[in-house]
Amino acid sequence: MEAEQIIQGECLEVLAGLPERSVDLVFADPPYNLQLGGDLHRPDNSRVDAVDDAWDRFDSFEAYDRFTRAWLAACRRVLKDDGAIWVIGSYHNIFRVGAAVQDLGFWILNDVVWRKTNPMPNFKGTRFANAHETLIWAAKSREQRRYTFNYDALKVANDDLQMRSDWTLPLCTGEERLKDASGQKVHPTQKPEALLHRVLLASTRPGDLVLDPFFGTGTTGAAAKRLGRRFIGIEREAAYVEAARARIAAVVPTPDEHLDVTRSKKNDPRIPFGMLLEAGLLRPGDELYCPKGRPARVRADGSLVAGALSGSIHKLGAMFDQAPACNGWTYWRLKTDRGFAPSTPCAKRSAKG
Ligand SMILES: C[S@@+](CC[C@H](N)C(=O)[O-])C[C@H]1O[C@@H](n2cnc3c(N)ncnc32)[C@H](O)[C@@H]1O
Repeated sequence: MEAEQIIQGECLEVLAGLPERSVDLVFADPPYNLQLGGDLHRPDNSRVDAVDDAWDRFDSFEAYDRFTRAWLAACRRVLKDDGAIWVIGSYHNIFRVGAAVQDLGFWILNDVVWRKTNPMPNFKGTRFANAHETLIWAAKSREQRRYTFNYDALKVANDDLQMRSDWTLPLCTGEERLKDASGQKVHPTQKPEALLHRVLLASTRPGDLVLDPFFGTGTTGAAAKRLGRRFIGIEREAAYVEAARARIAAVVPTPDEHLDVTRSKKNDPRIPFGMLLEAGLLRPGDELYCPKGRPARVRADGSLVAGALSGSIHKLGAMFDQAPACNGWTYWRLKTDRGFAPSTPCAKRSAKG
C-alpha cells in the first residue's frame, strides 16, 4: 500500500471499499452541524468568517446522528482490533458523537480538552467565549487489551510531567494557515498541526496507517508524513483535496533514525517468574531477600516460601510488607558474591560477571 493516499469522495462510499481491520488509528474531524442562523458580525460590523458551508448543514439532529453512526461504524470496521479512534468536535456535536461512539462498541479512554490560547471572542457578549474543543479518544472495544499509548514519550515532551488531558494550543494562524490567491482562508476549520502532532505521537508508531475520513486541508496527512506514519485521507470537496495535496507535497519527512521516542516499559515483553527456573537462571531452593534482608526460598513452580507464608513473588512481597500489592520483580533481591542484586536474569548474569 502507498504511504500517502488522498481520495476524493464521500467518506461512506470510500470507507466501504477499504479492507477490514487494516488501519491502526482513525482521526476524525467531522462536520460540526453548527446550525448557524444568519450572518454573524463583529462590533465594527465586519462579517465573521463562520462555518456556514454546505458540508456542515444537516436537516435535523436525527439526520446528523444517522450520518455520524454510519461513518463511525464504517471506521470501526476498517480499524485493526488493537486500533483506536480520535474524534474532535465542539459543544454542537461532540455529545451526540460521544453517545454514538459508546453505542457502537468503542471504549472511551479519555476526553481531551483542546484549550485555545487565541479563541474568537463572543462578539454579542451573550455567552462565554467558546474557547475549547473536545477530543474523544477511544479504543475499538472494551475487551481490547492492547492499544498504542506512548506514555513516556508524552511525559518527556511535557518536561517530565505526566501529560494531562487539557492541552493548551493556539488556533491555526499565520504562515501555517492556508490562504487562496485573494488572501482568504482556504478552509474555515483548518486544525493546528501541533494538535495532530501530539495525537499521533501519543497513539501511533512509525509506519502505522492513519485514516482521516474528513481530511479537509490535510492536517492529519501533513503531521503523519512529518512523523513517518502512513495515511489515507478522504475528502469530498475538490478544492480542499487540491490544497491538501500541495501542502503535503511540501512536507519534509523526518528521517527514520530520528523517529524513535522514549519507550514505555509497559510495552516491553513480559515473562512470568517461573520461566527463570525453566531457563535455569534460578534453581529451586535459591534464596531471595526482601529490602529489609528477610529471606524467602524459591520453589520449583516459581513461588516463594518463608516459614508458614508462601505465594507468588508479588503476593509474598505484599505479605512481608503488609501492603495491598507489591511488584515482586523490583522487590526481591539475590545475594551474589558482589552483594545484593535485583533478581532479574540480566542483573544476575552481570553480577556473576
Ligand atoms: C471540520 S472539516 C475538517 C478539517 C481538517 N481537519 C483540516 O485540518 O483541514 C470537515 C471536512 O469534512 C468534509 N466532509 C464533510 N462531509 C463529508 C463526507 N460525507 N465525505 C467526505 N468528506 C466530507 C468537508 O468538506 C470538510 O472539509
